[in-house]
Amino acid sequence: MRLLVLGGTVFLSHAVAAEAITRGHQVTCAARGTSGAVPDGATLVRVDRDAPDGLAALAGGVFDAVVDVASISYPWVADALALLGGKAGHWTFVSTCNVYADHATPGLRPGAQLLPPLAEGGRGDDTDPDRYGSIKVASENAVRDELGDRAFVVRPGLITGPGDGSDRFGYWPARFARGGRVVVPDAPDVLTQHIDVRDLAAWIVDAGETGLSGTYDGIGPAGPLPELLRDIADAVGADVELVPMTPDALIAAGVDYWAGPKSLPLWLPPTHAGMSSHDATPSLAAGLHVRPLSETVAGALETERRLGLDRERKAGMSAAEEAEVLATIKQQANAASTSGGRLDSGSGRD
Ligand SMILES: NC(=O)c1ccc[n+]([C@@H]2O[C@H](COP(=O)([O-])OP(=O)(O)OC[C@H]3O[C@@H](n4cnc5c(N)ncnc54)[C@H](OP(=O)(O)O)[C@@H]3O)[C@@H](O)[C@H]2O)c1
Repeated sequence: MRLLVLGGTVFLSHAVAAEAITRGHQVTCAARGTSGAVPDGATLVRVDRDAPDGLAALAGGVFDAVVDVASISYPWVADALALLGGKAGHWTFVSTCNVYADHATPGLRPGAQLLPPLAEGGRGDDTDPDRYGSIKVASENAVRDELGDRAFVVRPGLITGPGDGSDRFGYWPARFARGGRVVVPDAPDVLTQHIDVRDLAAWIVDAGETGLSGTYDGIGPAGPLPELLRDIADAVGADVELVPMTPDALIAAGVDYWAGPKSLPLWLPPTHAGMSSHDATPSLAAGLHVRPLSETVAGALETERRLGLDRERKAGMSAAEEAEVLATIKQQANAASTSGGRLDSGSGRD
């Protein structure tokens, strides 16, 4: 198969190109080449999707399958479709679970209500996260309109494993690898789910090979967050004590949800109970395979070690921040014992 990957220099698109090469396909990657190198065996065609006529170098190309990972640009998607859509045998568009209007209800499937489409903007530094879901909706629509039953639209949730630069899932293996007392959310009702980048890439290459079409979530089965964290700790195998803290105690200590500074990645508020608990059944039935968690943890940890376990992170807590949070538990325990009271089991353990 002649495969064009619009991207190919980083994370998911790199994994797609690498998987396709392993299977013996002829892979062209189109990117600026500034985010990294394409996998060995792939050809890089330099394009700049922000420049006028930026895809010109691909004009003569004919491809059996195209994979586009355009994240927040409708014009990127429209330009690629105009140039190549009519000639491509199959087209994968990587969208996102952020297209859904409802983030509160668990168990959603691809037929659920979407945000209104936004078919404008999105070049250069237009990276407003509030527009992300709507731009993806418009992009999905354009792909379906152009390709019809040759279009495979996949909506990933949290993508994990080797090469993840978002610092979210990787926080946990990295933190457990450092050992000691680890603050975790005491949130048995919070569900979480993810997909290893290699599994998603394999499914995307499968789709190009078999002509799979339709719209699917690109995500593995959901499960309780505390269980996942325990399993990650077991997979890492370091000497750790998990210190569960209730959501109220975490918020009082200034800890944020999901991502960003001083956060606990993957932890979500009740308003977002549906964001990481989609129903994976249709995707699994359509051929998505999910590898054992231990492999995802190993891949993520390898990336974390390469980046540096003690680096400044985009998501998670620094060692100093975590020590401060742990100290608040100790203070509460001391206050409770001197007042003759008993430590509220919801405030964490010391
Ligand atoms: N990470 C997650 O958990 C998550 C969750 C849901 C959905 N998604 C979706 O998954 C996809 C992730 O894609 P990805 O992992 O491959 O990473 P990405 O960071 O979106 O990069 C994609 C590619 O775009 C290329 N690129 C950037 N600017 C360009 C330009 N001006 N002209 C041409 N190419 C350009 C980059 O190469 P160069 O910089 O070398 O040009 C890179 O190869 C996105 O569609 C995202 O919305 C991700």
